[in-house]
Amino acid sequence: VYPLVVAVDGPAGSGKSSVSKEVARRLGYGFLDTGAAYRALAWHAEACGVDTDDAASVISCVSSFEYRIGTDPAGYAVQVGDVDVTTAIRDPDITAVVSRVARVPEVRTHLIELFRSIIADERRPGIVVEGRDITTVVAPDAPVRILLTASEAVRIARRSAELVDTAPEHTGEQLRRRDEADAKVVDFMTAAEGVTTVDSTELDFEQTVDAVIGVIRAAQ
Ligand code: C5P
Repeated sequence: VYPLVVAVDGPAGSGKSSVSKEVARRLGYGFLDTGAAYRALAWHAEACGVDTDDAASVISCVSSFEYRIGTDPAGYAVQVGDVDVTTAIRDPDITAVVSRVARVPEVRTHLIELFRSIIADERRPGIVVEGRDITTVVAPDAPVRILLTASEAVRIARRSAELVDTAPEHTGEQLRRRDEADAKVVDFMTAAEGVTTVDSTELDFEQTVDAVIGVIRAAQ
């Protein structure tokens, strides 16, 4: 299989984005943050002014959704039309609405197609693809499939450290609510058959990166 696909799933705050990006950088692989695409789509839905609870409006906005999502781990960028939304999609307003957009089946079908074409176009020897349904739906045949987990307390603590302006109680509540909403759409809390669990509760960033690279090496 070319490129070698490394599928990584996990809940919010598991560190999967930062870990996956660093793993890709070290191995000279591409990196695809699928959550960024859902966020870009939520950003676009907001820009269209559609009610994110109105699936039909979201879909009509999606069909005019023209975007580029990079796979270079060193210079990761997401664009909607001509607008660079790399930073804007991390805004708490987007985090608050993204699950509502991501639960629309047509939205998922659209993005899953896009992810598969990005994977097929990758010219580096491998690509680390991270999200919620990569090991089960987007790339269930990937030779390396990992579920990256951490205890809820640790995930909230990590997210709180990132969001210095927000009270930890608020971060915790938001993270729990988002995981609950997302879990209704895809199961990313239990490892599917053949998926290796990496629990980072007791690991620091470096150790988690090493653990993931260890799983990749073991599969080769
Ligand atoms: O990973 P991140 O927190 O950036 O993901 C943002 C949102 O995108 C998630 O809360 C979820 O609603 C959605 N998502 C998804 N399937 C994926 C990746 C992300 O539904 N594979």
